[in-house]
Amino acid sequence: MADALKIGIAGLGTVGASLVRVIKERENLLTVSCGRPIQVVAVSARDRTRDRGIDISTFEWFDDPVSMAESADIDVFVELIGGEGGAAHASVVKALSRGLHVVTANKALLAKHGIALAAQAEEKSVILNFEAAVAGGIPVIKVLRESLTGNTVNRVQGIMNGTCNYILTKMEDEGLGFEECLAEAQRLGYAEADPTFDIEGNDTAHKLAILTSLAFGCEISSDDIYMEGITNITIEDIEAARELGYAIKLLGMAQRAEGGIEQRVHPTLVPLDSEIAQVEGVTNAVAIESDILGELLMAGPGAGGKATASAVLGDIADIAKSRPGLQTAPPLGRPVKVLEPYRRARMRAHEGGYFIRLSVEDRAGVFANIATRMAEHEISLESIMQRGKPDKNGAQTIILVTHETTEESVRNAVSLISAEGYLASKPQVIRIERPIG
Ligand code: HSE
Repeated sequence: MADALKIGIAGLGTVGASLVRVIKERENLLTVSCGRPIQVVAVSARDRTRDRGIDISTFEWFDDPVSMAESADIDVFVELIGGEGGAAHASVVKALSRGLHVVTANKALLAKHGIALAAQAEEKSVILNFEAAVAGGIPVIKVLRESLTGNTVNRVQGIMNGTCNYILTKMEDEGLGFEECLAEAQRLGYAEADPTFDIEGNDTAHKLAILTSLAFGCEISSDDIYMEGITNITIEDIEAARELGYAIKLLGMAQRAEGGIEQRVHPTLVPLDSEIAQVEGVTNAVAIESDILGELLMAGPGAGGKATASAVLGDIADIAKSRPGLQTAPPLGRPVKVLEPYRRARMRAHEGGYFIRLSVEDRAGVFANIATRMAEHEISLESIMQRGKPDKNGAQTIILVTHETTEESVRNAVSLISAEGYLASKPQVIRIERPIG
């Protein structure tokens, strides 16, 4: 039997501890599947004495992950520290420069430095795997990198933040407020250390940027993503959307458009009977539309220790099964030097339907004025709904659903309506998307 594959794990939080546990529990199964044992031999974390419910006494301990990358007797460096820079970045750069294989779950790191790290891995002929960085346990990186080779991808859509999907589902099912649902997601270990990264859309944007590169063969560009989070979504929006036949989801979307590739992260209305609308709680889903395969939708556990550890373990197993001396596959599906530069499509050119919720003063002529402004911008209305009774401040709620129109027309019409002086609060505008699958 081949020698054991020796692993060093940097970061022993929820995911790191889960990984140590599953490697120990499944020792024999892993040896049979990979044809060689997988052994954790070194670890690094901030606090050696913390009780994590795992035995780390037999592992070599490093206070500093960079020292571990530099000097531990390991074949694979597993980075589970998180964050785009700092120790995560420095240790991964060090490990690659030493010719170690690297497995990381760090989407922020890849969104920012993915191109440079992939180039470094290619130069050293080592494997850089990152399945756990996007959509937790869903094997979407493998699908884009390997299974869809030869396909031209036109669109990618995904629910890629378990915390947001958990919050939106709980608000809808239980009528609970946003803050209460967020606190529960944090308690369950789904949220990032700083949950604003989840709820403001950054986490989804990082994941989308990685998928965009793999799907469209372009460089990673996380700074070029239009982003809105879910903090402004109210129970009223969720209820009104449901009455109209829609669910609200935080989607990350990338598609070919005039002038380049459009990348967007924002709350989105999707028809209640679509598959993506049925994805509930912490579950993630990624849908891909490509020319040979057609529409593919994958759903599964997207956050939490076990789901992420499962994806990391799959990446480690790939390395264990790889044959020394053979050419390693490029981390981004194609060599860095042949990736296209990322060209951003204009967001104002986006076309689709819109949900518009307006809180207006209850006086004559308001309804007619709204209809006029819409007509002036050639926005055709699918439905218009007025709540029977005013809210506690005496304002009326009007909800419009438009047919397909342009972002530019909607922005202009809503800005003219806002200037009329009859709105009681800021208008809510949520895009409606045609789901894949
Ligand atoms: N905070 C992330 C989420 C964890 O809620 O999906 C997985 O990246």
